[in-house]
Amino acid sequence: MKKLIALMLVLILASSFAACGKPAEEPAEDAGDSAQQEQSETAATPTIDKIKAAGKLVVGTSADFAPYEFHILDENGEDKIVGFDMDLAQAIADHIGVELEIKDMNFDSILIELQAGTVDLGIAGFSPDPERAETFDFSDIYYFGGQSFAILESNKDKYTSYEDFTGLQVAAQTGSIQADLLAENTPNASAVLLKTVPDVVMELVSGKVQGAFLETAILENYMKTYPEIIEMCPVEYDSEGSSVAIAKGNDDLLAVVNEVIAELLESGKMDEYVAAANEISDQAIA
Ligand code: ARG
Repeated sequence: MKKLIALMLVLILASSFAACGKPAEEPAEDAGDSAQQEQSETAATPTIDKIKAAGKLVVGTSADFAPYEFHILDENGEDKIVGFDMDLAQAIADHIGVELEIKDMNFDSILIELQAGTVDLGIAGFSPDPERAETFDFSDIYYFGGQSFAILESNKDKYTSYEDFTGLQVAAQTGSIQADLLAENTPNASAVLLKTVPDVVMELVSGKVQGAFLETAILENYMKTYPEIIEMCPVEYDSEGSSVAIAKGNDDLLAVVNEVIAELLESGKMDEYVAAANEISDQAIA
């Protein structure tokens, strides 16, 4: 009898999805952020003094995320990582008075390296998600990118609500909050979690998946190259905004990062960085 009532409840809840509204049901499992949960609390702790002694600030990023961070070929035909996150990283290094070293990796490795102390900061459009904030510190917000659910234009009459994705394939980047948003909003779709954002977009463009959760700023950027992609709806998310990730126990470094962010926001420099990155984001190479 209990089982029957539970089943009926699930059915009632399942049929109450509003178009792009969150399902009332709690997500069954957390598709993202699993790597962070496994980390120990015993990280080496980089401090300003250590960074100065090393002569360099090591920043972990995932350069698959134009306009935040992406690869281009510079004037000499050499591979270079650019984007407004990289300008922020450079401003922090300059403020401390050291060289900047960028370590490019898959997004889901950054927090692991941060915890291991092999990078000083994670700058990769990080959302200060409460679950992550249990293990890591996050700076003040420096940019609001927004969250979107994307589909192909050609399917816009076919798919109008999350409910339409029952049994279909929906993609997001591994370890990202978009993977969590997928689990929450389209729990009845099969989740396709991919290592890089270009992979997520390519699967959508080629029709291998029918929907994708992406940061709005990223989606808008891809829409310039792939006009066949559209936003089906904006996605609700409570910890909106990008911040810098830091291992706990580095309060002096966190304070410096916040100081630089405040300066860049106040002077309008951050806006300039964003505009400049958007200008060249179509040169992004995979
Ligand atoms: N804001 C999202 C998160 O924190 C996605 C960030 C992905 N960044 C990247 N460089 N691929 O999970």
